[in-house]
Amino acid sequence: MYESIKGLKRTHRCGQLSSANIGEEVVVMGFTNSVRNLGGVNFINLRDISGIVQLFFNTDTPELYEKAAKVRGEYVLAAKGVVRARGEGAVNKDMATGDIEIEVNELRILSSAETPPFYIEENSDVKEELRLKHRFLDLRRPDMQRNLIMRHNIAKIAHDFFDENGFLEIETPILVKSTPEGARDYVVPSRVHSGKFYALPQSPQLYKQLLMVSGMDRYFQIAKCFRDEDLRADRQPEFTQLDMELSFVDMDDVMELNERFMQRVFKEIKGIDIKTPFLKMEYAEAMDRFGSDKPDTRFGLELKNLSDIVANCGFGVFTGALENGGSVRAINAEGLGEKLTRKTIDALGEFVKTYRAKGLAWIKLNPDGVQSPIAKFLTEDEMNVILERMNAKEGDVIFIVADKNNVVFDSLGALRLEIAKRFDLIDKNRYDFLWVTNFPLLEYDEEDGRYVAMHHPFTCPNDEDIPLLDTDPSKVRAKAYDIILNGVELGGGSIRIHDAQLQEKMFGVLGFTKEQAWDRFGFLMGAFKYGTPPHGGMAYGFDRMVMLIAGLDNIREVIAFPKVQNASELMSNAPDFIDDKQVEELHIKLAEEE
Ligand code: AMO
Ligand code: AMP
Repeated sequence: MYESIKGLKRTHRCGQLSSANIGEEVVVMGFTNSVRNLGGVNFINLRDISGIVQLFFNTDTPELYEKAAKVRGEYVLAAKGVVRARGEGAVNKDMATGDIEIEVNELRILSSAETPPFYIEENSDVKEELRLKHRFLDLRRPDMQRNLIMRHNIAKIAHDFFDENGFLEIETPILVKSTPEGARDYVVPSRVHSGKFYALPQSPQLYKQLLMVSGMDRYFQIAKCFRDEDLRADRQPEFTQLDMELSFVDMDDVMELNERFMQRVFKEIKGIDIKTPFLKMEYAEAMDRFGSDKPDTRFGLELKNLSDIVANCGFGVFTGALENGGSVRAINAEGLGEKLTRKTIDALGEFVKTYRAKGLAWIKLNPDGVQSPIAKFLTEDEMNVILERMNAKEGDVIFIVADKNNVVFDSLGALRLEIAKRFDLIDKNRYDFLWVTNFPLLEYDEEDGRYVAMHHPFTCPNDEDIPLLDTDPSKVRAKAYDIILNGVELGGGSIRIHDAQLQEKMFGVLGFTKEQAWDRFGFLMGAFKYGTPPHGGMAYGFDRMVMLIAGLDNIREVIAFPKVQNASELMSNAPDFIDDKQVEELHIKLAEEE
């Protein structure tokens, strides 16, 4: 049986009480964090979202004492009593309210509780699967509560900031027409329209552009997005974007506004002053120096191109890669010679193979000279020029990969991060913001044998590159920008095409016939015909933003009810089967189970 809350009004949250309240009669409510019955005196630590406060009972009030003795962990209580100072020796310095306690004169057990499957405590090392199965208990843990409070606070700053800058928050539909944006769509069958499907939006992209055509001028939204793609530590099938679109702007307007936004977030949430303007780097330079379009600039180990040096060397692997249009590039693990044992180097060789590299050549500068499995293929001169280009000195180890450019960049870019992680080269207190700009508009998809949009098909080409759409589409650069924080793609956006003809042309380059383009995207191109402001915008991965600001590396820690690797939700068990009748109404036949 439980007791009623009737007649009791909470006066304070547990963590709000302090010595300033001594002598006051207060009412607190919360969960039983711990019970310490010392026989004759009983202490209950009561926890709510604000913190913990100690309740005091003794045998001077036998009825109360008896009742308190029945309380177990996670029981939900209401307690009325007088705040008093703890005795000299009883002060708990580790507890925010550790110098006071409440001498209780009325106790109600609002709910009893079974023993939870894990302790409700900070930094618990309970298996994530168990935590997610009982997420409602996991979310009682103070660190999880702090994460969600931070998430709320960042969202609140976003609402304030964008409101102050003339943006309207406008909701866009969740049941939409399937329009490709890169990932696979989640689809919803229509009951009314037999055989037809809605898609869940991968982002509000088309709607926000249409809002610009509508003259809404500036739009923002904290928007749910859905992408049926492979999950990673920083990816969810259902995630949140902080999404925006602005009329009458160019790239620098969007960037400047968002620098001010990030500045505000970091100031208010972390008390940190972020310097603006952020560094800007062209895509080509980012690839060249870091092997990545989202470089982590908190440490060195930059890539250097050795292709010209080894063009005529005696190592067939190098010259072969060059003859196939690839390159030979290297990084210098400065001063790590002692730590990079043969075994570790072999492990790194295996590591780069997961990025399709066929091998990892290395040159180690020992006190007694150069050690390298490829020395025998190089002349002394070639070796010396390599060492010079790499600024190599005693104690350094140079790692070289030869292959097609994308393999070289992927593997050395990843190796760079791996070495930094293994040998602790990253200053965790640094927040390195970076804009990556001047992306190629298109990427050639070898498998499909056609061009695909690097960002999405609505991205505007650089004005001077537009003629290249007809002659050499691979050379066209885009008015696109990504915002990178500490090597994570925090967000991205672009100036959009706002002309029906250019948009039609773009779809043509992407391999759509005119009919297909109008069938899929006619509502956008048609709208452009009625007067369209030049516009652009961007979207942050909101979950990622919170994750990075909270200093975490798992996106699930900042989402109340996240999904796991196989896109299921362990607590409710979604997805699940539905009734035959539901299936039938949707005009769907399920394939026989294999
Ligand atoms: P884009 O596809 O780059 O752009 O997405 C914007 C940002 O959303 C985040 N993100 C994700 N976060 C968690 N899980 C995922 N599966 C996931 N996928 C993307 C990333 C990314 O930078 N409509 C455009 C934006 C625009 O052009 O305005 C768009 O969606 O942080
Ligand atoms: P081998 O003579 O075949 O044993 O190769 C000598 C060294 O070259 C080894 O350390 C290999 O890992 C390395 N190697 C092989 N293929 C490549 C490649 N594509 N790029 C860089 N190094 C390679």
